[in-house]
Amino acid sequence: MASTAKHYNAHSAETYEEAYFYEPGAYMHYLVELVTQRMQLDNVNNSGKPRHILDIGGGTGNFASALIHNCPSSNFRVTVVEPFLEESKGADMAKSDRMSFVKAPAEIFLSHSHDNGDWRKQGSHQVLIKETIHHIDEKVRVGVLKGLYDDLKAFPCGNDITIPSILIITRPQVEIDYPLWDEARRVWKESQPSLEQLQQELQLAGFVDIQCTMERYHSQISLQRWQEMIKKRFWSTFANFSDEELEFGCEELARERPPDENGVIHFEDRLLFITGRKVDT
Ligand SMILES: C[S@@+](CC[C@H](N)C(=O)[O-])C[C@H]1O[C@@H](n2cnc3c(N)ncnc32)[C@H](O)[C@@H]1O
Repeated sequence: MASTAKHYNAHSAETYEEAYFYEPGAYMHYLVELVTQRMQLDNVNNSGKPRHILDIGGGTGNFASALIHNCPSSNFRVTVVEPFLEESKGADMAKSDRMSFVKAPAEIFLSHSHDNGDWRKQGSHQVLIKETIHHIDEKVRVGVLKGLYDDLKAFPCGNDITIPSILIITRPQVEIDYPLWDEARRVWKESQPSLEQLQQELQLAGFVDIQCTMERYHSQISLQRWQEMIKKRFWSTFANFSDEELEFGCEELARERPPDENGVIHFEDRLLFITGRKVDT
């Protein structure tokens, strides 16, 4: 937690959002569409009751904001629960009454205390954990998931429709295709829980109907930009490498994955979408 805190505290909302995966653009648009479908966010319920979604480790809130903008007529609101990064300064975000930002770690769900404020007292209907599950210590992960599970409430959304209670988006532990080098791949594997482990943890926390898909996106980015992102430590994978080690790694990866004639490298982004449901929701 201490080194994760150091890593994210060193990022401003701007430096975080300037990386390929977190900036507005085609990739973000693709993910927003996928999450909208998987969480059934465009399913407008008839009861008029707003759906409350928690985005755990929601970063600067820019992804939650994009989801809201993608579904202008849906009646859901998002509480972004984020311990380190500052809320994005995106002009229209702060004004949105469909989104709020809470500075807290996922570990607050280890406690059943509802003293954390109204957002927690109300309970939630759905939870999104995007690219964050690996930051929650393995020793407490089931406890955090159980705390989230206990706070979940049923959501009336019409005939025969069930919405997933939780969506975890994470990357595979092995068989990734990102241009990296051996030592970075080793660090990656060490900090990334396997799919089997996450499925088991969800089960232990009480979730049922656990399903998973692998979502693949053909990415292309200039080698120069990719190397700059790594040198700026855009993922925590790079947090504990020295500047010299990153310099060496960037040279290694270029040898392993030479760019095309336009200086562009190609790779497949692979994301696991893991869903589960609370028994009576
Ligand atoms: C790769 S970023 C993903 C951010 C956001 N979900 C997105 O997809 O844009 C990982 C996030 O996890 C957050 N994080 C790290 N440790 C955490 C913890 N213990 N509880 C909740 N969030 C945590 C970081 O601050 C960071 O915002």
